[in-house]
Amino acid sequence: MVAVAILAAGRGTRMKSDLPKVLHQLGSCTLVERVLKSCVSIQPSRIIVIVGYRGDLVQKSLQNNSNDNIPTVEFVEQKEQLGTGHAIQQLLPYLQEFSEDLLVLNGDVPLLRPETLKQLFDTHKENQNSATILTANLPNPKGYGRIFCDANNFVTQIVEDRDCTTAQKQNHRVNAGVYCFSWPALGKILPELKADNDQQEYYLTDVVPLLNPVMAVDVNDYQEIVGINNRKHLATAYDILQIRVKDDWMAAGVTLINPDSITIEDTVSLERDVIIEPQTHLRGQTTIGTGSRIGPGSLIENSQIGTNTSVLYSVISDSVVADNTRIGPYAHLRGNSQVGSHCRIGNFVELKKAKVGDRSNAAHLSYLGDATLGEKVNIGAGTITANYDGVKKHHTKIGDRSKTGSNSVLVAPVTLGEDVTVAAGSVVTKDVEDDSLVIARSRQTVRKSWRLKSSEDNE
Ligand code: UD1
Ligand code: CA
Repeated sequence: MVAVAILAAGRGTRMKSDLPKVLHQLGSCTLVERVLKSCVSIQPSRIIVIVGYRGDLVQKSLQNNSNDNIPTVEFVEQKEQLGTGHAIQQLLPYLQEFSEDLLVLNGDVPLLRPETLKQLFDTHKENQNSATILTANLPNPKGYGRIFCDANNFVTQIVEDRDCTTAQKQNHRVNAGVYCFSWPALGKILPELKADNDQQEYYLTDVVPLLNPVMAVDVNDYQEIVGINNRKHLATAYDILQIRVKDDWMAAGVTLINPDSITIEDTVSLERDVIIEPQTHLRGQTTIGTGSRIGPGSLIENSQIGTNTSVLYSVISDSVVADNTRIGPYAHLRGNSQVGSHCRIGNFVELKKAKVGDRSNAAHLSYLGDATLGEKVNIGAGTITANYDGVKKHHTKIGDRSKTGSNSVLVAPVTLGEDVTVAAGSVVTKDVEDDSLVIARSRQTVRKSWRLKSSEDNE
Protein backbone atom coordinates (compact mmCIF):
# COMPACT_ATOMS: atom_id res chain seq x y z
CA MET A 1 0.00 0.00 0.00
CA VAL A 2 1.17 3.49 -0.76
CA ALA A 3 0.02 6.90 0.43
CA VAL A 4 0.35 9.97 -1.75
CA ALA A 5 1.23 13.50 -0.62
CA ILE A 6 0.80 16.39 -3.02
CA LEU A 7 2.66 19.63 -2.33
CA ALA A 8 0.25 22.44 -3.04
CA ALA A 9 0.88 25.06 -0.36
CA GLY A 10 3.14 27.41 -2.29
CA ARG A 11 1.90 30.71 -3.58
CA GLY A 12 3.62 30.51 -6.93
CA THR A 13 4.99 34.03 -6.81
CA ARG A 14 6.42 33.73 -10.29
CA MET A 15 2.91 33.27 -11.74
CA LYS A 16 2.09 36.86 -10.71
CA SER A 17 -1.47 35.86 -9.95
CA ASP A 18 -4.14 36.20 -7.28
CA LEU A 19 -4.90 32.51 -7.71
CA PRO A 20 -2.69 29.95 -5.98
CA LYS A 21 -0.48 28.38 -8.61
CA VAL A 22 -1.95 24.89 -8.43
CA LEU A 23 -5.42 26.24 -9.30
CA HIS A 24 -4.33 27.56 -12.66
CA GLN A 25 -6.15 25.84 -15.46
CA LEU A 26 -4.30 23.55 -17.85
CA GLY A 27 -6.83 22.56 -20.52
CA SER A 28 -9.80 20.85 -18.96
CA CYS A 29 -8.53 20.80 -15.36
CA THR A 30 -6.41 22.63 -12.82
CA LEU A 31 -2.77 21.73 -12.21
CA VAL A 32 -3.53 19.99 -8.92
CA GLU A 33 -6.40 18.00 -10.45
CA ARG A 34 -4.02 16.73 -13.12
CA VAL A 35 -1.54 15.65 -10.48
CA LEU A 36 -4.32 13.88 -8.59
CA LYS A 37 -5.47 12.07 -11.70
CA SER A 38 -1.97 10.88 -12.52
CA CYS A 39 -1.73 8.95 -9.23
CA VAL A 40 -5.17 7.32 -9.23
CA SER A 41 -4.08 4.20 -11.11
CA ILE A 42 -1.54 3.20 -8.45
CA GLN A 43 -4.53 2.96 -6.08
CA PRO A 44 -3.17 4.85 -3.09
CA SER A 45 -4.65 4.06 0.31
CA ARG A 46 -4.68 7.77 1.18
CA ILE A 47 -4.16 10.97 -0.75
CA ILE A 48 -3.09 13.97 1.29
CA VAL A 49 -2.93 17.43 -0.26
CA ILE A 50 -0.75 19.89 1.64
CA VAL A 51 -2.34 23.32 1.37
CA GLY A 52 -1.26 26.72 2.58
CA TYR A 53 -1.49 29.87 0.48
CA ARG A 54 -5.24 30.34 -0.18
CA GLY A 55 -5.69 26.79 1.04
CA ASP A 56 -9.42 27.41 1.38
CA LEU A 57 -9.65 27.92 -2.38
CA VAL A 58 -7.61 24.83 -3.17
CA GLN A 59 -9.70 22.75 -0.79
CA LYS A 60 -12.97 24.07 -2.18
CA SER A 61 -11.99 23.48 -5.78
CA LEU A 62 -11.10 19.84 -5.07
CA GLN A 63 -14.18 19.23 -2.93
CA ASN A 64 -16.57 20.77 -5.46
CA ASN A 65 -15.12 18.65 -8.16
CA SER A 66 -17.80 16.83 -10.09
CA ASN A 67 -15.22 14.70 -11.85
CA ASP A 68 -15.71 11.08 -10.76
CA ASN A 69 -12.15 10.18 -11.73
CA ILE A 70 -10.78 12.18 -8.82
CA PRO A 71 -10.75 10.30 -5.51
CA THR A 72 -11.48 11.87 -2.14
CA VAL A 73 -8.54 13.59 -0.58
CA GLU A 74 -7.46 14.69 2.90
CA PHE A 75 -6.03 18.13 3.51
CA VAL A 76 -3.16 19.08 5.77
CA GLU A 77 -2.34 22.71 6.37
CA GLN A 78 1.14 24.17 6.13
CA LYS A 79 0.54 27.53 7.79
CA GLU A 80 3.78 29.16 6.71
CA GLN A 81 5.47 28.18 3.47
CA LEU A 82 8.97 27.47 4.65
CA GLY A 83 9.91 25.07 1.85
CA THR A 84 9.10 21.66 0.42
CA GLY A 85 10.83 19.86 3.33
CA HIS A 86 8.81 21.88 5.83
CA ALA A 87 5.67 20.97 3.90
CA ILE A 88 6.36 17.24 4.30
CA GLN A 89 7.20 17.76 7.97
CA GLN A 90 3.55 18.73 8.45
CA LEU A 91 2.62 15.10 7.76
CA LEU A 92 4.41 13.79 10.84
CA PRO A 93 1.41 14.00 13.20
CA TYR A 94 -0.90 12.52 10.55
CA LEU A 95 1.20 9.52 9.57
CA GLN A 96 2.39 8.37 13.00
CA GLU A 97 0.98 4.86 12.57
CA PHE A 98 1.84 4.62 8.89
CA SER A 99 4.64 2.20 8.01
CA GLU A 100 4.46 1.89 4.22
CA ASP A 101 5.70 3.98 1.28
CA LEU A 102 4.89 7.60 0.61
CA LEU A 103 4.77 8.94 -2.93
CA VAL A 104 5.42 12.69 -2.96
CA LEU A 105 4.28 14.73 -5.93
CA ASN A 106 4.78 18.42 -6.61
CA GLY A 107 1.44 20.07 -7.25
CA ASP A 108 2.99 22.03 -10.11
CA VAL A 109 4.24 19.04 -12.14
CA PRO A 110 1.05 18.18 -14.06
CA LEU A 111 2.03 16.08 -17.08
CA LEU A 112 3.18 12.84 -15.46
CA ARG A 113 1.88 9.66 -17.04
CA PRO A 114 0.50 7.00 -14.68
CA GLU A 115 2.95 4.48 -16.21
CA THR A 116 5.86 6.63 -15.07
CA LEU A 117 4.67 6.66 -11.46
CA LYS A 118 4.24 2.91 -11.62
CA GLN A 119 7.77 2.48 -12.94
CA LEU A 120 9.11 4.67 -10.12
CA PHE A 121 7.16 2.72 -7.53
CA ASP A 122 8.19 -0.67 -8.93
CA THR A 123 11.88 0.29 -8.95
CA HIS A 124 11.53 1.51 -5.38
CA LYS A 125 10.04 -1.80 -4.27
CA GLU A 126 12.38 -4.08 -6.22
CA ASN A 127 15.48 -2.39 -4.81
CA GLN A 128 14.05 -1.84 -1.34
CA ASN A 129 15.25 1.76 -1.49
CA SER A 130 14.80 4.32 1.25
CA ALA A 131 14.01 6.80 -1.47
CA THR A 132 13.63 6.66 -5.24
CA ILE A 133 13.63 9.90 -7.21
CA LEU A 134 12.31 10.56 -10.69
CA THR A 135 14.89 12.31 -12.85
CA ALA A 136 15.28 13.53 -16.40
CA ASN A 137 17.95 14.81 -18.70
CA LEU A 138 16.69 18.18 -19.84
CA PRO A 139 18.02 20.13 -22.80
CA ASN A 140 17.39 23.27 -20.74
CA PRO A 141 17.67 22.40 -17.03
CA LYS A 142 17.44 26.01 -15.80
CA GLY A 143 15.41 26.35 -12.61
CA TYR A 144 15.49 22.66 -11.65
CA GLY A 145 17.44 21.00 -8.87
CA ARG A 146 20.42 19.03 -10.26
CA ILE A 147 20.85 15.38 -9.36
CA PHE A 148 24.28 13.93 -8.68
CA CYS A 149 24.66 10.14 -8.80
CA ASP A 150 27.42 7.61 -8.44
CA ALA A 151 28.16 5.07 -11.17
CA ASN A 152 25.36 2.76 -9.97
CA ASN A 153 22.58 5.35 -10.14
CA PHE A 154 22.60 5.97 -6.41
CA VAL A 155 21.93 9.61 -5.65
CA THR A 156 24.51 11.43 -3.60
CA GLN A 157 23.17 14.96 -3.65
CA ILE A 158 20.53 17.28 -5.07
CA VAL A 159 21.51 20.92 -5.47
CA GLU A 160 18.93 23.58 -6.31
CA ASP A 161 19.62 25.62 -9.43
CA ARG A 162 20.17 28.79 -7.43
CA ASP A 163 22.61 27.04 -5.08
CA CYS A 164 24.65 25.43 -7.91
CA THR A 165 28.21 26.38 -8.76
CA THR A 166 28.93 27.08 -12.42
CA ALA A 167 30.40 23.60 -12.75
CA GLN A 168 27.33 21.98 -11.12
CA LYS A 169 25.05 23.84 -13.53
CA GLN A 170 26.62 21.88 -16.40
CA ASN A 171 24.80 18.80 -15.12
CA HIS A 172 21.55 18.44 -17.08
CA ARG A 173 20.11 15.64 -14.97
CA VAL A 174 17.33 17.18 -12.90
CA ASN A 175 15.00 16.39 -10.04
CA ALA A 176 11.44 16.01 -11.34
CA GLY A 177 9.90 16.76 -7.95
CA VAL A 178 8.46 13.23 -7.78
CA TYR A 179 9.69 10.89 -5.07
CA CYS A 180 8.92 7.57 -3.47
CA PHE A 181 9.98 7.30 0.18
CA SER A 182 9.91 4.60 2.79
CA TRP A 183 7.89 6.63 5.29
CA PRO A 184 9.47 5.16 8.45
CA ALA A 185 12.93 6.08 7.13
CA LEU A 186 11.86 9.56 5.98
CA GLY A 187 9.82 10.34 9.08
CA LYS A 188 12.82 9.64 11.29
CA ILE A 189 15.15 12.15 9.60
CA LEU A 190 12.64 14.88 8.62
CA PRO A 191 13.14 16.83 11.87
CA GLU A 192 16.88 17.11 11.07
CA LEU A 193 16.41 19.36 8.00
CA LYS A 194 18.11 22.74 8.11
CA ALA A 195 17.38 25.89 6.12
CA ASP A 196 20.95 26.80 5.26
CA ASN A 197 20.58 27.70 1.60
CA ASP A 198 20.07 30.72 -0.60
CA GLN A 199 16.31 30.83 0.05
CA GLN A 200 16.56 29.93 3.75
CA GLU A 201 13.96 27.26 3.20
CA TYR A 202 13.69 23.67 4.40
CA TYR A 203 14.30 21.70 1.22
CA LEU A 204 12.85 18.22 0.87
CA THR A 205 15.79 17.47 -1.39
CA ASP A 206 18.16 17.81 1.59
CA VAL A 207 16.98 14.44 2.93
CA VAL A 208 19.06 12.68 0.26
CA PRO A 209 22.40 12.53 2.14
CA LEU A 210 20.52 11.35 5.24
CA LEU A 211 18.87 8.33 3.59
CA ASN A 212 20.36 5.16 2.15
CA PRO A 213 19.97 3.83 -0.47
CA VAL A 214 18.52 6.58 -2.67
CA MET A 215 18.14 5.73 -6.32
CA ALA A 216 17.34 7.80 -9.42
CA VAL A 217 14.99 6.63 -12.17
CA ASP A 218 15.06 8.44 -15.50
CA VAL A 219 11.74 9.23 -17.10
CA ASN A 220 11.39 8.02 -20.71
CA ASP A 221 9.84 11.24 -22.02
CA TYR A 222 11.37 14.27 -20.35
CA GLN A 223 8.37 16.41 -21.27
CA GLU A 224 6.37 14.64 -18.56
CA ILE A 225 8.26 16.39 -15.81
CA VAL A 226 7.79 19.99 -16.89
CA GLY A 227 7.21 22.03 -13.73
CA ILE A 228 5.02 25.13 -13.87
CA ASN A 229 6.61 28.16 -12.24
CA ASN A 230 5.43 30.93 -14.57
CA ARG A 231 2.93 31.63 -17.35
CA LYS A 232 5.38 30.67 -20.03
CA HIS A 233 5.76 27.21 -18.47
CA LEU A 234 1.96 26.97 -18.40
CA ALA A 235 1.81 27.65 -22.13
CA THR A 236 4.59 25.13 -22.79
CA ALA A 237 2.74 22.48 -20.77
CA TYR A 238 -0.45 23.21 -22.70
CA ASP A 239 1.37 22.65 -26.00
CA ILE A 240 2.88 19.39 -24.76
CA LEU A 241 -0.53 18.18 -23.63
CA GLN A 242 -2.10 19.16 -26.96
CA ILE A 243 0.52 17.31 -28.96
CA ARG A 244 -0.05 14.22 -26.82
CA VAL A 245 -3.83 14.33 -27.24
CA LYS A 246 -3.67 15.01 -30.98
CA ASP A 247 -1.05 12.34 -31.64
CA ASP A 248 -3.26 9.83 -29.81
CA TRP A 249 -6.32 10.73 -31.93
CA MET A 250 -4.38 10.53 -35.16
CA ALA A 251 -3.11 7.10 -34.11
CA ALA A 252 -6.73 6.12 -33.44
CA GLY A 253 -7.84 6.99 -36.98
CA VAL A 254 -8.85 10.65 -36.85
CA THR A 255 -7.67 13.08 -39.55
CA LEU A 256 -6.45 16.44 -38.31
CA ILE A 257 -5.80 19.02 -41.00
CA ASN A 258 -3.14 21.46 -39.85
CA PRO A 259 -3.04 20.09 -36.28
CA ASP A 260 -1.14 23.10 -34.94
CA SER A 261 -4.22 25.27 -35.43
CA ILE A 262 -6.55 22.79 -33.68
CA THR A 263 -7.05 22.30 -29.93
CA ILE A 264 -8.70 19.23 -28.40
CA GLU A 265 -9.19 18.87 -24.66
CA ASP A 266 -8.39 15.48 -23.17
CA THR A 267 -12.04 15.06 -22.18
CA VAL A 268 -13.15 14.85 -25.82
CA SER A 269 -13.90 11.57 -27.54
CA LEU A 270 -13.68 11.03 -31.31
CA GLU A 271 -14.60 8.06 -33.49
CA ARG A 272 -12.66 6.72 -36.45
CA ASP A 273 -12.68 8.69 -39.68
CA VAL A 274 -13.66 11.93 -38.06
CA ILE A 275 -12.05 14.82 -39.92
CA ILE A 276 -11.11 17.94 -38.00
CA GLU A 277 -10.34 20.96 -40.15
CA PRO A 278 -8.11 23.92 -39.21
CA GLN A 279 -8.96 26.47 -36.50
CA THR A 280 -11.31 24.11 -34.71
CA HIS A 281 -11.52 23.76 -30.92
CA LEU A 282 -13.16 20.84 -29.13
CA ARG A 283 -13.75 21.16 -25.40
CA GLY A 284 -15.33 19.52 -22.39
CA GLN A 285 -17.45 16.39 -22.62
CA THR A 286 -17.72 16.42 -26.40
CA THR A 287 -18.12 13.36 -28.61
CA ILE A 288 -18.01 13.20 -32.40
CA GLY A 289 -19.28 10.25 -34.41
CA THR A 290 -17.57 8.48 -37.26
CA GLY A 291 -17.43 10.19 -40.64
CA SER A 292 -18.25 13.63 -39.31
CA ARG A 293 -16.31 16.64 -40.53
CA ILE A 294 -15.81 19.50 -38.12
CA GLY A 295 -14.49 22.88 -39.20
CA PRO A 296 -12.81 24.86 -40.43
CA GLY A 297 -13.33 27.48 -37.75
CA SER A 298 -15.62 25.78 -35.26
CA LEU A 299 -15.92 25.60 -31.47
CA ILE A 300 -17.72 22.65 -29.92
CA GLU A 301 -18.14 22.43 -26.17
CA ASN A 302 -19.90 19.76 -24.08
CA SER A 303 -21.84 18.54 -27.10
CA GLN A 304 -22.55 15.26 -28.86
CA ILE A 305 -22.30 15.17 -32.64
CA GLY A 306 -23.54 12.09 -34.50
CA THR A 307 -22.12 10.34 -37.54
CA ASN A 308 -21.56 11.84 -41.00
CA THR A 309 -22.52 15.29 -39.81
CA SER A 310 -20.70 18.43 -40.86
CA VAL A 311 -20.12 21.56 -38.84
CA LEU A 312 -18.70 24.54 -40.71
CA TYR A 313 -17.64 27.83 -39.07
CA SER A 314 -20.06 27.31 -36.19
CA VAL A 315 -20.29 27.33 -32.41
CA ILE A 316 -22.07 24.52 -30.56
CA SER A 317 -22.31 24.29 -26.79
CA ASP A 318 -24.24 21.98 -24.47
CA SER A 319 -26.19 20.52 -27.38
CA VAL A 320 -26.80 17.34 -29.34
CA VAL A 321 -26.76 16.93 -33.12
CA ALA A 322 -27.75 13.60 -34.71
CA ASP A 323 -26.48 11.94 -37.90
CA ASN A 324 -26.19 13.21 -41.49
CA THR A 325 -26.92 16.80 -40.55
CA ARG A 326 -25.31 19.96 -41.85
CA ILE A 327 -24.56 22.76 -39.42
CA GLY A 328 -23.34 26.14 -40.66
CA PRO A 329 -21.73 28.11 -42.00
CA TYR A 330 -22.12 30.50 -39.07
CA ALA A 331 -24.68 28.73 -36.91
CA HIS A 332 -24.84 28.94 -33.11
CA LEU A 333 -26.40 26.10 -31.10
CA ARG A 334 -26.59 26.43 -27.33
CA GLY A 335 -28.51 25.75 -24.14
CA ASN A 336 -29.46 22.09 -24.59
CA SER A 337 -30.51 22.31 -28.19
CA GLN A 338 -31.19 19.03 -29.98
CA VAL A 339 -31.06 18.66 -33.73
CA GLY A 340 -32.28 15.47 -35.43
CA SER A 341 -30.82 13.62 -38.39
CA HIS A 342 -30.79 14.83 -42.01
CA CYS A 343 -31.34 18.41 -40.88
CA ARG A 344 -29.80 21.64 -42.07
CA ILE A 345 -29.11 24.48 -39.68
CA GLY A 346 -27.43 27.09 -41.79
CA ASN A 347 -26.24 30.63 -42.22
CA PHE A 348 -26.68 32.86 -39.16
CA VAL A 349 -29.19 30.64 -37.40
CA GLU A 350 -29.20 30.60 -33.59
CA LEU A 351 -30.79 27.79 -31.62
CA LYS A 352 -31.32 28.09 -27.88
CA LYS A 353 -33.01 25.23 -26.03
CA ALA A 354 -34.59 24.25 -29.32
CA LYS A 355 -35.52 20.74 -30.36
CA VAL A 356 -35.52 20.15 -34.10
CA GLY A 357 -37.04 16.95 -35.51
CA ASP A 358 -35.50 14.83 -38.27
CA ARG A 359 -35.31 16.24 -41.82
CA SER A 360 -36.14 19.76 -40.73
CA ASN A 361 -34.35 22.83 -42.06
CA ALA A 362 -33.60 26.32 -40.85
CA ALA A 363 -31.17 27.53 -43.44
CA HIS A 364 -30.94 31.29 -43.07
CA LEU A 365 -31.06 34.11 -40.53
CA SER A 366 -33.25 32.71 -37.76
CA TYR A 367 -33.57 32.70 -33.99
CA LEU A 368 -35.28 29.65 -32.58
CA GLY A 369 -35.34 29.80 -28.78
CA ASP A 370 -37.41 27.62 -26.43
CA ALA A 371 -38.94 25.93 -29.43
CA THR A 372 -39.94 22.40 -30.41
CA LEU A 373 -40.02 21.62 -34.12
CA GLY A 374 -41.46 18.42 -35.52
CA GLU A 375 -40.11 16.49 -38.50
CA LYS A 376 -39.72 17.90 -42.02
CA VAL A 377 -40.37 21.43 -40.83
CA ASN A 378 -39.05 24.22 -43.02
CA ILE A 379 -38.14 27.47 -41.33
CA GLY A 380 -38.09 30.34 -43.81
CA ALA A 381 -35.32 32.90 -43.87
CA GLY A 382 -35.58 35.39 -41.05
CA THR A 383 -38.09 33.48 -38.93
CA ILE A 384 -37.93 34.49 -35.28
CA THR A 385 -39.50 32.90 -32.24
CA ALA A 386 -40.25 35.82 -29.93
CA ASN A 387 -39.77 33.83 -26.74
CA TYR A 388 -39.29 36.61 -24.20
CA ASP A 389 -42.03 38.98 -23.04
CA GLY A 390 -39.63 41.06 -21.03
CA VAL A 391 -40.20 39.00 -17.88
CA LYS A 392 -40.50 35.34 -18.76
CA LYS A 393 -39.48 32.96 -21.54
CA HIS A 394 -42.25 31.16 -23.43
CA HIS A 395 -42.41 28.12 -25.67
CA THR A 396 -43.13 27.77 -29.40
CA LYS A 397 -44.27 24.50 -30.92
CA ILE A 398 -44.26 23.79 -34.65
CA GLY A 399 -45.84 20.57 -35.92
CA ASP A 400 -44.54 18.15 -38.55
CA ARG A 401 -44.23 19.39 -42.13
CA SER A 402 -45.12 22.97 -41.28
CA LYS A 403 -43.46 25.84 -43.13
CA THR A 404 -42.85 29.38 -42.00
CA GLY A 405 -42.55 32.11 -44.63
CA SER A 406 -39.66 34.51 -44.69
CA ASN A 407 -39.53 37.07 -41.93
CA SER A 408 -42.29 35.57 -39.82
CA VAL A 409 -42.42 36.19 -36.09
CA LEU A 410 -43.95 33.53 -33.84
CA VAL A 411 -44.91 35.24 -30.60
CA ALA A 412 -44.66 32.65 -27.81
CA PRO A 413 -46.44 30.95 -26.21
CA VAL A 414 -47.82 29.71 -29.50
CA THR A 415 -48.46 26.36 -31.19
CA LEU A 416 -48.59 25.70 -34.89
CA GLY A 417 -50.21 22.38 -35.79
CA GLU A 418 -49.04 19.95 -38.47
CA ASP A 419 -48.89 20.96 -42.14
CA VAL A 420 -49.34 24.62 -41.30
CA THR A 421 -48.08 27.28 -43.68
CA VAL A 422 -47.22 30.71 -42.34
CA ALA A 423 -47.30 33.48 -44.91
CA ALA A 424 -44.18 35.57 -45.24
CA GLY A 425 -43.99 38.56 -42.93
CA SER A 426 -46.64 37.27 -40.55
CA VAL A 427 -46.67 38.00 -36.83
CA VAL A 428 -48.38 34.94 -35.37
CA THR A 429 -49.78 35.47 -31.89
CA LYS A 430 -52.45 32.76 -31.67
CA ASP A 431 -52.35 28.99 -32.07
CA VAL A 432 -52.95 27.63 -35.58
CA GLU A 433 -54.63 24.29 -36.21
CA ASP A 434 -53.43 21.51 -38.55
CA ASP A 435 -53.60 21.94 -42.34
CA SER A 436 -54.04 25.71 -42.25
CA LEU A 437 -52.55 28.74 -43.91
CA VAL A 438 -52.04 31.65 -41.59
CA ILE A 439 -51.57 35.15 -42.92
CA ALA A 440 -51.06 37.70 -40.17
CA ARG A 441 -50.03 40.93 -41.83
CA SER A 442 -51.78 43.90 -43.32
CA ARG A 443 -52.88 43.55 -46.90
CA GLN A 444 -50.88 45.37 -49.56
CA THR A 445 -52.56 48.49 -50.94
CA VAL A 446 -51.51 50.13 -54.19
CA ARG A 447 -52.52 53.63 -55.29
CA LYS A 448 -52.07 53.96 -59.01
CA SER A 449 -50.62 57.11 -60.60
CA TRP A 450 -49.41 58.43 -57.28
CA ARG A 451 -46.21 60.34 -56.84
CA LEU A 452 -44.66 62.18 -53.89
CA LYS A 453 -44.91 65.92 -54.45
CA SER A 454 -41.39 67.31 -54.71
CA SER A 455 -40.45 70.61 -53.05
CA GLU A 456 -40.05 72.18 -56.52
CA ASP A 457 -43.80 71.59 -57.21
CA ASN A 458 -44.63 73.81 -54.23
CA GLU A 459 -42.71 76.84 -55.50
C1 UD1 B 1 11.37 21.89 -6.64
C2 UD1 B 1 12.59 21.08 -6.18
C3 UD1 B 1 13.58 20.98 -7.36
C4 UD1 B 1 12.90 20.32 -8.54
C5 UD1 B 1 11.61 21.07 -8.90
C6 UD1 B 1 10.84 20.25 -9.93
C7 UD1 B 1 12.88 21.51 -3.80
C8 UD1 B 1 13.70 22.22 -2.77
N1 UD1 B 1 13.22 21.72 -5.06
O1 UD1 B 1 11.85 23.19 -6.95
O2 UD1 B 1 14.71 20.21 -6.98
O3 UD1 B 1 13.78 20.29 -9.66
O4 UD1 B 1 10.76 21.24 -7.75
O5 UD1 B 1 9.70 20.94 -10.39
O6 UD1 B 1 12.00 20.76 -3.44
N2 UD1 B 1 5.43 23.97 -1.83
C9 UD1 B 1 4.74 23.79 -0.64
N3 UD1 B 1 5.20 24.40 0.47
C10 UD1 B 1 6.31 25.19 0.49
C11 UD1 B 1 7.01 25.35 -0.74
C12 UD1 B 1 6.54 24.73 -1.88
O7 UD1 B 1 3.73 23.10 -0.60
O8 UD1 B 1 6.65 25.71 1.55
C13 UD1 B 1 4.90 23.31 -3.04
C14 UD1 B 1 4.57 24.28 -4.17
O9 UD1 B 1 3.21 24.66 -4.07
C15 UD1 B 1 4.85 23.47 -5.41
C16 UD1 B 1 5.90 22.47 -4.99
O10 UD1 B 1 5.90 22.48 -3.56
O11 UD1 B 1 3.70 22.75 -5.83
C17 UD1 B 1 7.28 22.84 -5.49
O12 UD1 B 1 7.64 24.11 -5.00
P1 UD1 B 1 8.47 25.15 -5.87
O13 UD1 B 1 8.72 26.33 -5.05
O14 UD1 B 1 7.83 25.34 -7.19
O15 UD1 B 1 9.84 24.35 -6.04
P2 UD1 B 1 10.89 24.48 -7.21
O16 UD1 B 1 11.71 25.69 -6.98
O17 UD1 B 1 10.24 24.34 -8.52
CA1 CA C 1 8.22 24.29 -9.20
